[in-house]
Amino acid sequence: MQSIKQKCGLDTPSSERKSILGISGSPRRGGNSDTLIDTVLAGAAECGATYDKVILQDLEISPCKACDSCQKTGGCIQDDDMESLFELMEKSDVWVLGTPIYWWGPSAQFKAFIDRWYGVNQRLFQGKQVILVVSMGGNNDYYARHTVGMFKDICHYLGMTCIDVIVASGLNGRNDVQDHPEHLTIARELGIKSIRNCD
Ligand SMILES: Cc1cc2nc3c(=O)[nH]c(=O)nc-3n(C[C@H](O)[C@H](O)[C@H](O)COP(=O)(O)O)c2cc1C
Repeated sequence: MQSIKQKCGLDTPSSERKSILGISGSPRRGGNSDTLIDTVLAGAAECGATYDKVILQDLEISPCKACDSCQKTGGCIQDDDMESLFELMEKSDVWVLGTPIYWWGPSAQFKAFIDRWYGVNQRLFQGKQVILVVSMGGNNDYYARHTVGMFKDICHYLGMTCIDVIVASGLNGRNDVQDHPEHLTIARELGIKSIRNCD
């Protein structure tokens, strides 16, 4: 029987540890999505994973221009931070992607990011383990249905495994999630699960 250390990979050399990348689509630094992503990363780190995080708002990510150059050349003509972000994504075993709900959909930053997936070699996505974190002001998870549905369809289409989705409702203030330990508990547990599931 495996020990807890073995299950979590804590006796694994750091070069062989699993890695998790958080990508926050909220423009609100230190907000709810940000905190939830940090909590997933902390859970994964408890299991020995290495982690990194980027905030889309800090990057230059232009919207897709639908010029279709990528369909001919395999690359995007836009010279911005997306190329470096793809490199980070490629190196990570698990992605935790977060967005607030804006008008029933994802934030503009998050949507621009997702649209740019169109022009990249789709091998990047195949078999990738992904967690979606959604933060919203409303009290009914139903309001997140378009965003969650869109994301699950994309995962299916691109061959990614959506490990789970956290819909954290009732969060209007900047860091209201601190008053909702139930969301934070789920986030931490998912971080742990994502690394245990990796092998
Ligand atoms: C432009 C805008 C649109 C919003 N639209 C919705 C909405 O349709 N449904 C909802 O429940 N909350 C909505 N909200 C509230 C945010 O989803 C909520 O405050 C969320 O927790 C913010 O996450 P953050 O702290 O990570 O930025 C909206 C907020 C903004 C700024």
